Amino acid sequence: MSEDKVYPVPESIKQGAHISFEQYQQMYERSLKDPEGFWSEQADKFLDWFSKWGTTCEWDLSKGDIRFFAGGKLNVAYNCLDRHLESRGDQTAIIWEGDEPDQDESITYRDLHERVCRFANAMKARGVKKGDRVCIYLPMIPEAAVAMLACARIGAVHSIVFGGFSPEALRDRIIDADAEVVITSDEGVRGGRAIPLKGNTDKALEGCPNVKTVFVVQRTGGNINWNDGRDVWYHDACAEASTDCPPEHMDAEDPLFILYTSGSTGKPKGVQHSTGGYLLGTAMTHKYVFDYQEGEVYWCTADVGWVTGHSYIVYGPLANGAKTLMFEGVPTYPDAGRFWQVVDKHNVAIFYTAPTAVRALMGQGDEHVTNTSRKSLRILGSVGEPINPEAWEWYYRVVGEERCPIVDTWWQTETGSILIAPLPGAMDLKPGSATLPFFGVEPQLVDDKGNVIEGEGKGNLVINRAWPSMMRTIYGDHERFFNTYLAAYPGKYFTGDGARRDADGYYWITGRVDDVINVSGHRMGTAEVESALVLHDKVSEAAVVGYPHDVKGQGIYAYVTLMAGEEPSEDLKKELVKLCIDEIGPIAKPDLIQFAPSLPKTRSGKIMRRILRKVASNELDSLGDTSTLADPSVVDTLIEDRANK
Ligand code: PRX
Repeated sequence: MSEDKVYPVPESIKQGAHISFEQYQQMYERSLKDPEGFWSEQADKFLDWFSKWGTTCEWDLSKGDIRFFAGGKLNVAYNCLDRHLESRGDQTAIIWEGDEPDQDESITYRDLHERVCRFANAMKARGVKKGDRVCIYLPMIPEAAVAMLACARIGAVHSIVFGGFSPEALRDRIIDADAEVVITSDEGVRGGRAIPLKGNTDKALEGCPNVKTVFVVQRTGGNINWNDGRDVWYHDACAEASTDCPPEHMDAEDPLFILYTSGSTGKPKGVQHSTGGYLLGTAMTHKYVFDYQEGEVYWCTADVGWVTGHSYIVYGPLANGAKTLMFEGVPTYPDAGRFWQVVDKHNVAIFYTAPTAVRALMGQGDEHVTNTSRKSLRILGSVGEPINPEAWEWYYRVVGEERCPIVDTWWQTETGSILIAPLPGAMDLKPGSATLPFFGVEPQLVDDKGNVIEGEGKGNLVINRAWPSMMRTIYGDHERFFNTYLAAYPGKYFTGDGARRDADGYYWITGRVDDVINVSGHRMGTAEVESALVLHDKVSEAAVVGYPHDVKGQGIYAYVTLMAGEEPSEDLKKELVKLCIDEIGPIAKPDLIQFAPSLPKTRSGKIMRRILRKVASNELDSLGDTSTLADPSVVDTLIEDRANK
């Protein structure tokens, strides 16, 4: 092993783990040398099929064609529910922990199956059929999982919009997906505060004439407006629906869902995932990366509005017949010990969260952790952004009491499931490294010209072949899919991330190399925030960059140039912040705004974002060459006026 700090696999985890290091090496090698044989065995082992596929896998990334198990028929809801009924119908499928500590619910596989069938029939009764897009805008309540699985059961394609997104953002996504049905709730509750989801939906739908039906789940009983022809109470619709709903036979390549995510340019794109390959990827990684053992309680703290919630609260765990915990609240309510209280309350064995939460809790004092038992914990996970070694050490030492391996999982909305991560019984850990690739994943580092870097080195992270849960397209825009991910390095998938590989072959993700920033583990396109800012009639131009932020990982730093004659003011800053919240949601709120008389541009008028990033990060010694700027003196003013001196 190299000079980095290394944490060997604890003996207690090694014994009984699904995969040892030797097995990993053999399986990994086979997965690359004999993908047909490997994937067909795994698809047989992990999933139930109504009928077998023709060709196991075929892809041509230079053309954007990817197919796994094409011709094979299966149903995701059947795999997550029906096939478990005989052996574990009475076992808990979902443990729901409400925002208030005295609210919880356990739902067995049998209950969940019944609820899914009823709601699937309720949707069918209102005309929803295979291939239709259904928008889900719900808080973290069991109905979110029910709605997802009900869509999967009848072959409808769900598009979940995170409950923190604004009416404008919701509208854009409904229109782009051309959804005719929306599922929401009267309100959501987080940290004791109500969120007006139905009110937001009403506003969004002012611009969506195609939406015919809105199912409304009653969560709080709060006051809402009602549109008689359009709105339907979820509980009424389910009460009158039958519990018998045969699962649709879907092709492995039929779409399962669309999920919008931010890129470096333009509007968010609808990442489209497949049925068979996606489910195989999530089920396999859930079992092996978390070393999930039968009967264990597993908790992923993400929201179902993000891909982590799709793959690791709902699809992966339920496909494996696991007990998955779903938490409605926030880590600091009623106090900063909530996570660990919930771990004790439900005997959580595997806990998966984001570095931003770890950092936030680390700042609240160890006693919130140490006054709980946490004896049930076995494995800890991290996802969403690079975890800094201090946060890793705290998570390992204080939360896990040095007995729980931390699986730092690198992946993306586009990848569908985890691609680089340690297998806890197999790999020694190094704080800050996502370690080694999962089966069938062939990462490479390339320089800007596309030359492959061998051995130790640093470069752009690409994946040199397709894997089952890889996105298949951008909804409605295959060309954009190709241009965004496959055009830069022909034959390879470009991740948008930079990475380093050390002497042991371990990968260290260094962060995005494009204009995407990662705020509290949430992905944000700088172009989206800029578009919101320039909507203000006093703003002539805006440029947004990320800067290091102690808790959020990256904060949003906005440079704003005003129209001639307009004066900067604190009130104007507030208006601009509000504009971002209204257009996108609270996650897009700029942390720092700097009014800049002008932005650094090249002679051809291109903004030199590199300089803006350096100024925002206070890295003034390494501004680089500014001689190509149309007016180099702009930089002095920027430095003089910076917002975080
Ligand atoms: O930059 C990487 C970062 O999050 C990006 C993907 O964001 P999103 O599609 O929202 O999915 C987040 C959850 C899978 C990546 O391009 N990222 C994710 N996980 C890690 C990470 N960066 C470093 N280490 C990770 N473990």
